[in-house]
Amino acid sequence: MAQKTYWILYLFFLNTTIELVNGEFRKLFEKGIRYERLSPINFTEISREYGYKSEEHTVITEDGYVLTLFRIPRGKNCHFTAQRTPVLIMHGLLLSSDSWIDSGPEAGLAYLISDDCYDLWAGNVRGNYYSRNHIRMNPDEDPEFWKFSLNEVGVYDLPAIIDYILDYTRSVKLNYIGYSQSGGSFVIMCSEKLGYCDKVRVAILLHPVAKMTNAKSQAFRAITEVYQILEPNLQNALELEALPRGGYVQKIVHDICQNDLIADKICRSILTVLDSYNPGSVSVSTIRTLTGHFPGGTSVRVMAWFNQVLNKKEFQNFDYGPLMNMKIYGSKQPSIYNCNATTAPIVIIHGKNDNIVSKKDVEWLKNQLPNVLEVVYVKNPLWNHFDVPYSQHTREMIYPKISEDLFKYSGNGVEL
Ligand SMILES: *[C@@H]1O[C@H](CO)[C@@H](O)[C@H](O)[C@H]1NC(C)=O
Ligand SMILES: *[C@@H]1O[C@H](CO)[C@@H](O)[C@H](O)[C@H]1NC(C)=O
Repeated sequence: MAQKTYWILYLFFLNTTIELVNGEFRKLFEKGIRYERLSPINFTEISREYGYKSEEHTVITEDGYVLTLFRIPRGKNCHFTAQRTPVLIMHGLLLSSDSWIDSGPEAGLAYLISDDCYDLWAGNVRGNYYSRNHIRMNPDEDPEFWKFSLNEVGVYDLPAIIDYILDYTRSVKLNYIGYSQSGGSFVIMCSEKLGYCDKVRVAILLHPVAKMTNAKSQAFRAITEVYQILEPNLQNALELEALPRGGYVQKIVHDICQNDLIADKICRSILTVLDSYNPGSVSVSTIRTLTGHFPGGTSVRVMAWFNQVLNKKEFQNFDYGPLMNMKIYGSKQPSIYNCNATTAPIVIIHGKNDNIVSKKDVEWLKNQLPNVLEVVYVKNPLWNHFDVPYSQHTREMIYPKISEDLFKYSGNGVEL
């Protein structure tokens, strides 16, 4: 408990002083800065640098959010002519589609999957820098824009993205890969949107979030707790947005992490404090690149919801407090997601050194889901949460399993 209080005080302190210090830091480091050429540019441009042609698509959700979807229809190293089942890959909390290319063409899952001749689609959920748009609302001015938790991602964003891809590619089904929060939003979609689970041949959930009571990361608990405390008191649009790209946290992280030595020592230790230690897994160049895209923004309510699932025994919808819950859910407690509606075949891949999503919570989720084919633990015992997008060893550690299941569940146009 003492440790938790310490963290909260520390973060409040950081919040108020970092802006002042930011200017000084910038001056101090400007001379030594070696900007990673690839971080300020977007998915299309980065992948083009490595010889991958990509497309940009826009999806509009039922409630008016405008989402950006990137597609690599054919990887540089794919030489087959037949088009296989489309694969949708969805990012983690505060990340974007860029997390699938930040570790470069030898390790980024978007490259590996498209090189394997799958039609690769990388989505972006509402609120990150690629999906900070709405047909009516202005995210800079309308507080309503930011009033979403992971629930709306599962109820609106994923169904809209899936329908768009199926329609565009004239496919009956697709394969889904969801990392961290995108494992949770998949279960939410299956629970709340009947029929959508049937549009997926196989869902590969990488370190999926659901109930998170056993998470070891004190830093993650403390950060989300700050948002849980603040959330009910925030009013305007700018306050309701959490950790945007271009905000002072991202800017300062980006600036200081461009220096090789600092990237290796300080920036790596930030990842270690949030998650755990896996020496050498994430390269210095990936650290420099990823800080151009992380943190990538979400709503304060999403952050607060994470704090709730860290403390509740169930996988449940956003808790507004008894009065509002009564109005919204018709009960004092928020509604609990019906995990047994996740009828699609599920493969879970997880790592034992993940301090954000613990093994115990993954086992809990496995027992809630009715159609889990297998739970696979990565053989390196130090494999952790951030290794999924950022490790230089994804090709050996997780890709063989992903590839095997994508192959097994690809229809080649024929219904399975
Ligand atoms: C990516 O960058 C290119 C080149 O600047 C630009 O044309 C395109 O609109 C950008 N796409 C997105 C989604 O930001
Ligand atoms: C799933 O669980 C809910 C709530 O516990 C229950 O009402 C329902 O019958 C279950 N459905 C199936 C298909 O098992």
